[in-house]
Amino acid sequence: MKALEGVAMELDDCAFPLLHDTVLTSKPEKAFDGASWVLLVGALPRKAGMERSDLLSANAGIFGPQGKAIAASAAGDVRILVVGNPCNTNCLIARSNAPDIAPERWFAMMRLDENRGKTLLARKAGVPVQVVTNLAVWGNHSTTQYPDARNAKIAGLSTFDVISDHGWLKGKFIETVQKRGAAVIEARGSSSAASAANAVLDSVNSIWNSTPWGDWHSLAVVSHGEYGIPEGLQFGFPVKSDGTHWEVVPGLEQDGDAKDRIKKTTEELVQERELVKSLLPT
Ligand code: LMR
Repeated sequence: MKALEGVAMELDDCAFPLLHDTVLTSKPEKAFDGASWVLLVGALPRKAGMERSDLLSANAGIFGPQGKAIAASAAGDVRILVVGNPCNTNCLIARSNAPDIAPERWFAMMRLDENRGKTLLARKAGVPVQVVTNLAVWGNHSTTQYPDARNAKIAGLSTFDVISDHGWLKGKFIETVQKRGAAVIEARGSSSAASAANAVLDSVNSIWNSTPWGDWHSLAVVSHGEYGIPEGLQFGFPVKSDGTHWEVVPGLEQDGDAKDRIKKTTEELVQERELVKSLLPT
């Protein structure tokens, strides 16, 4: 609790105009009481020697009760962003435990991957990062994710027209984004913090505000079968919002390589769902 008191002190010291109060509690129903936005940041991290199935079931023990508590006490307009890893399946677990909350109100974070990819593309093209748009990251926030440079744009032009090193776009670029989380952990000795917090802000803003015309952002949302993705998976898609509702951007072209990569990340999420199936309410 002492460390949390420090966090609350720092929040006060930011003089945020919308921050009226902080409530420090370890009781989920109190924490979520009346909340319109819930950011689930903490999760059990993978420890040495831990199987993925152990990690998933340990997190099911955290995210199941959180889902129930959100359903019991949050506001009717609640939206939930899951950040703690494995965030897609953690989100699926929490969502499954809150059947009275519309599945469209649940999100898992892919924006850190989008931002990483945008910086890489901007550096390669020698342009400011803000001119890189339309970068979708498909699938799981894991090393199988697919950052889609084919449909991304640089100053409105096709990335493949602007960057002539197509070998890099099809290989190293994808791999660097996929493994960036691990590279940050290796360099810092702990998981990304500032860039993840920034991606939380970006994610909330992208849901809360209208997406600029023609652009999209990466969010893991419930699949309704778009692009052939199995229904119910919490899947990274290109998403646009009008500030109230969101939709998966339809009709993006996928070549054979993109299809293979999306299949791989889909299979991983299906497998994760299988691993936690016995822990989900029926
Ligand atoms: C990241 O992408 O930086 C994190 O999700 C990595 C992690 O496992 O915490």
